[in-house]
Amino acid sequence: MAVPEHVAIIMDGNGRWATKRGLPRLAGHHKGASIVEGIVRHAADVGIKYLSLYAFSTENWKRLSDEVSGLMSLLERYIAEKLSALKANGVRLRFAGRKDRISLRLRAAMEAAEAETVDAGGLQLIVCIDYGGRQEIIDAVTALVADGVTDVTEESISKRMYLPDVPDPDLVIRTSGELRVSNFLLWESAYSEFYFTDTLWPDFDDAELDKAVESYSSRDRRKGGA
Ligand code: FPP
Repeated sequence: MAVPEHVAIIMDGNGRWATKRGLPRLAGHHKGASIVEGIVRHAADVGIKYLSLYAFSTENWKRLSDEVSGLMSLLERYIAEKLSALKANGVRLRFAGRKDRISLRLRAAMEAAEAETVDAGGLQLIVCIDYGGRQEIIDAVTALVADGVTDVTEESISKRMYLPDVPDPDLVIRTSGELRVSNFLLWESAYSEFYFTDTLWPDFDDAELDKAVESYSSRDRRKGGA
């Protein structure tokens, strides 16, 4: 079976999961965060090398301030609580997104986690925080201009994306039944396969990931060729 090297997930449906249970939206985000560790482990077990997770978009700042600060605290707590387990499992933790609007404390935790796992040989877990695909392209083009590059090519742009050494995602999964890209990995997903499931992110499990990988492996990826 062809296993995708890089899987990227739009973890959608936390709010609905909570609302259905009469709980505050943040409870859905907590439940959503609690399943990440198991999914990372299973992804590594099936042979996935890179797993990108869309945790907070450049548009998510528009949410109510309680939800924004709750999500930020959740991410900070996640790093504090899970870093040693991730390290023990050989996971390299990386982040993609704008850094200038993240609190100094969270940014310091992100940088420390990246530094501590830089030599890990296992799966690379890429958490996208304050990430927007258009913003990433703007940042890359800004860097091109600053570097005085006039020969603009796919390669010269790709080299200036947030994580240029990470291969493009082979498979993008979106949960919760929404059929949108929502500004995720716009440049990198040019030839990705997409998999949509109605399952809400907090209910996503190993079997769901297996189904997505099986669907991917049955596809004929011509990438524009005949
Ligand atoms: C979308 O659901 C989800 C988010 C905006 C946040 C995703 C964050 C997590 C799963 C937790 C932290 C992640 C890690 C990597 C520790 P939504 O709120 O838009 O749901 P809705 O569409 O049902 O309202």
